[in-house]
Amino acid sequence: ARIEKGGHKHFMAKEIAEQPTVLADALAHYLNDGAITLPETTPDFAEVDRIVMVACGTAYYACATAKYWFEQLAGIPVEVDVASEYRYRDAPVGPKTLAIFVSQSGETADTLAALRHVATRARIVSVVNVPESSIARESDLALPIFAGAEIGVASTKAFTCQLLVLLLLALKAGRDRGRVTDEAMAGHMASLSSLPGLMAQALAASERIEETSVKLAEAQDILFLGRGSMFPLALEGALKLKEISYIHAEGYASGELKHGPIALIDRSVPVIVFAPRTALFDKTVSNMQEVMARGGKVVLVTDRLGAVEASEGCWQVIEMPTVPELIAPVLYAIPAQLLAYHTAVAKGTDVDQPRNLAKSVTVE
Ligand code: G6P
Repeated sequence: ARIEKGGHKHFMAKEIAEQPTVLADALAHYLNDGAITLPETTPDFAEVDRIVMVACGTAYYACATAKYWFEQLAGIPVEVDVASEYRYRDAPVGPKTLAIFVSQSGETADTLAALRHVATRARIVSVVNVPESSIARESDLALPIFAGAEIGVASTKAFTCQLLVLLLLALKAGRDRGRVTDEAMAGHMASLSSLPGLMAQALAASERIEETSVKLAEAQDILFLGRGSMFPLALEGALKLKEISYIHAEGYASGELKHGPIALIDRSVPVIVFAPRTALFDKTVSNMQEVMARGGKVVLVTDRLGAVEASEGCWQVIEMPTVPELIAPVLYAIPAQLLAYHTAVAKGTDVDQPRNLAKSVTVE
């Protein structure tokens, strides 16, 4: 079994470690001569006035992250919903609405039903790992993520590959709508090409994260905080942790802390803060200081400069490579995954087959 797992203890560890490779594969499929090459049937986003993104679980958090990209790069209004809600909502759909469905397996019952719910009214693009899947077949266009087989129930490499494909779509949207200049595009292309290397550097923090996780394994409750595109990542970090370590965890937008969850903070509650040194850094740091002032134990995940500026008073600091803001959520997925993984291993749970969960939920 170790061989199947490529020398790793669990499929999840193998799949986390594979991310630089699979992202490089996906990039090789979608970039040619420094330009994004998507199928000809990819919508012209100049003709799209609204995007609806629908998925479940981790794929839903990929959508929630992509919302920031579509808004920022292309100025398109985006609505994101979980499939189990969307399928029963009377959500208005206009003639220029594009519906995007994201699913690793392509077989999730709620996501498929949500797709069928709008199929006759909107153009459907799906982002899938299994090109022969039902969701892929029933879409106008299916974009594969090239993550390779994912065995661990907790999704890892599929998440970052979904993010990558959604980012490519958002960049194309920005081009189609004349909002991303040639110069800006060249910069984004350079960021994308640096991603596999940066992911490999992020993986080097695994031992450091393991030390922190051994301490986290004692906790009853853990909060995850982030702002901007780090907010959906905070939600994903909390989901990953609860799925496999069975520790109660919640993700929150840093600025929302004061409207409730701050009441939970005391010495027994670790608070993981995702804060690359980007535009919203100072805001996140001030929320982090509110946590520390109430005795909360902060685990700060940041880059070198962020660590220099904000480590004081933190319980643990995990350093990531410096990363362009646009791709930060892809990179910071690695510490989120590793924190969950090592905490689960420290607790001795069944990492690859957590209780009560299925890899693909094909019934409602
Ligand atoms: C299950 C899995 C999750 C996954 C979700 C959606 O809950 O345990 O890891 O994110 O389904 O699956 P899909 O195949 O549609 O991405």
